[in-house]
Amino acid sequence: MNVATHHLRCTECAAVITKDDVSSDFRCPQCKGLYEVVYAWSDVKHPPHAPDDPNSRLPNPSALRWLWQERRSSSLAVDQSGVWRFRDLLPIIEDLEKAVTLREGNTPLYDLPRCAKGAGIDWLLAKHQGMNPTGSFKDTGMTAALSVAAQRGFEWVACASTGNTSAAMAAYAARAGLRSIVFIPEGKIAWGKLSQAMDYGALTIQLKTDFDGCVKILGELVQKFPIYLLNSVNPYRLEGQKTPAFEMVEQMDWQVPEHIVVPGGNLANSAALGKGFSEMYQLGLIPRLPKISVIQAEGANPLYRWFIDSNRVMKPVTADTRATAIRIGNPASWRKAAAVIDELGGWCEQVSEQEIALAKAEIGAEGVGCEPASAVTLAGLKKLVALGKITPEERVVLILTGHTLKDSQYTIDYHRNELFTAAEVAQLTPAQLAQHAALRKPPIVLEADSTLVLRTLESHMSESHKNQPQPA
Ligand code: F0G
Repeated sequence: MNVATHHLRCTECAAVITKDDVSSDFRCPQCKGLYEVVYAWSDVKHPPHAPDDPNSRLPNPSALRWLWQERRSSSLAVDQSGVWRFRDLLPIIEDLEKAVTLREGNTPLYDLPRCAKGAGIDWLLAKHQGMNPTGSFKDTGMTAALSVAAQRGFEWVACASTGNTSAAMAAYAARAGLRSIVFIPEGKIAWGKLSQAMDYGALTIQLKTDFDGCVKILGELVQKFPIYLLNSVNPYRLEGQKTPAFEMVEQMDWQVPEHIVVPGGNLANSAALGKGFSEMYQLGLIPRLPKISVIQAEGANPLYRWFIDSNRVMKPVTADTRATAIRIGNPASWRKAAAVIDELGGWCEQVSEQEIALAKAEIGAEGVGCEPASAVTLAGLKKLVALGKITPEERVVLILTGHTLKDSQYTIDYHRNELFTAAEVAQLTPAQLAQHAALRKPPIVLEADSTLVLRTLESHMSESHKNQPQPA
């Protein structure tokens, strides 16, 4: 399989173009739809061919499984990358040796037994994409799309971002020796992410608007200057972002979970994971598909609104949520995400600010932690279980998209009980207030006096002893 075999196809009007014909905004000139990367196997039906048919021109599933495993023990950078290790299913660059990689991917799959119990299911896993080099899932997409940019000879790359894309793009651009421009909404991204863009040397422009406003300005710029656009409208980003699906089932000994729960912002990640699972299914690597459900914050919920609207009309919203990564009101990839939910049989839910904060604290209390946008998955899972969309015995995987250190201010405000407004506190039931109180661990400031420290510890220990479940 070589690069000549990939094309770009409009996901709306199905027009197919070659990779060199794509316009700078990555939109179809006819219908303004987004493109997807298509390969020889993109349209085959499962099962594609007798698995060991030597005449098949499609990748052989057993050979792929073996090869991907073998590459784990290699010292080559592309083999150590958890994205390029699966390169057979993303043949998008000509010169593999020049792939721009920070050894992304290879992220852990953690079990979350206490969160599972709290949500009312038997078994829960988290694929922690926050354990990537720049602390978010964006690295998997950035290695792919930035490698394409570098090989096509671009000098400048740019993105509009709620923070994580900009951090990833700045890092990968720096690795490749390219110049990067970041457009972020002023005052509305977490400091950790802003600091990364600067640290990795990006030209960082804070616009006095929101994410959707940044996208608009950048869209105009890429028409006028030779800047390579690295937002998720760039279909190569999704090729990298589909690989956690491969890695996840490999980590589960090629068993397929029943349900994947993904946070939804600009809605490319859910689409990318759906593409990853579908391609594995088409090639016969997995025997069935999981459901993929998307969870949005109540204040940034255009897909949820579309989902519950009987006429299914997409209406952009003015977004507002403390989960700033997903503070997006006009998501570019909503049609792709909607298709994944419908085709794979998932659901879309919304969760409140209080539900997000509680879920984040619960994930933190398991010693895993994540950023607020990632915690919508656990909050949404509870709702999906309550609605009967997920049953207790189903194996569920939450996609944790960002590291807890990305937004430490949120965590500190939560534990100091300074996150919610009085009106938000008033909405909580006594049981919910008790849940928050049990999870909050504010720092205790003391004089450096050992007697005082000892007394404080004793009172804490007896307090936590009282809260332990007593034997019947
Ligand atoms: N989680 C985190 C931590 C994110 O940073 C994002 C998106 C999402 C979830 C949503 O993913 O957009 O594919 O639906 N962040 C983008 C950014 C928009 O600019 O960093 P999505």
